[in-house]
Amino acid sequence: MNQSIKSFVRARTRLSKLNRFLLNNSPSASFCKVEHFESFDCNQSSDKRILEIGFGDGENLISSAQNNLNFFFFGVEVYEMGVANILKSMETNGISNVKIILGDVKEVLEKNSVEDYFDEILIFFPDPWPKRKHNKRRLVSEDFLFEIKKILKKDGVLIIKTDWKEYAEEIEQNVKKVFGRYKKSLDKKSNLVTKYEKIALKENRKITSFETY
Ligand SMILES: C[S@@+](CC[C@H](N)C(=O)[O-])C[C@H]1O[C@@H](n2cnc3c(N)ncnc32)[C@H](O)[C@@H]1O
Repeated sequence: MNQSIKSFVRARTRLSKLNRFLLNNSPSASFCKVEHFESFDCNQSSDKRILEIGFGDGENLISSAQNNLNFFFFGVEVYEMGVANILKSMETNGISNVKIILGDVKEVLEKNSVEDYFDEILIFFPDPWPKRKHNKRRLVSEDFLFEIKKILKKDGVLIIKTDWKEYAEEIEQNVKKVFGRYKKSLDKKSNLVTKYEKIALKENRKITSFETY
């Protein structure tokens, strides 16, 4: 997988002291930075393991974790502010069935050594990189999906949503090549509307969802 082309630009926001503290002192059971990541693993027994990639502000992750206490969730995100906010929310709400990894998911997948591990993997509204010269930055490439397929259980499900028509076409080609079997839906109702889904709805963009099986 090409790790040198980044699917994100690091934000230059200054973190508050509290946020910096959370990123440096959160317990290892619930948080790690990619440089310390070794592999996905959780010692707790859980009915399902779910991974959300690029969770942004983390509203879906928090709500899903609170509503499914017998599931274990992993979230990977590069956006420090989003990670600090979710760590705060996990602490305030006593959420212990989530582990957050701060860093580039491609690096996380390079380091990971477990396969057939997740029941569900979610990628909601990956950055569309609409300018043609930036298309290479799109996360959901064929190579990336091959890596995702390795960590998904044989009967696991990958769900991807996008509001960008051209990206939806590219994702469909890649999903077809790598997974073969998938369902495609237009404007499917979500259990929880994320920040970027809200923007898409406000700007009247159609939402395409892919679900492999
Ligand atoms: C458009 S936002 C969508 C956020 C959220 N899923 C939502 O629906 O509101 C895309 C998110 O993916 C994250 N992201 C992009 N590339 C990533 C990567 N390689 N590893 C981890 N997160 C990434 C960005 O930081 C950003 O928060």
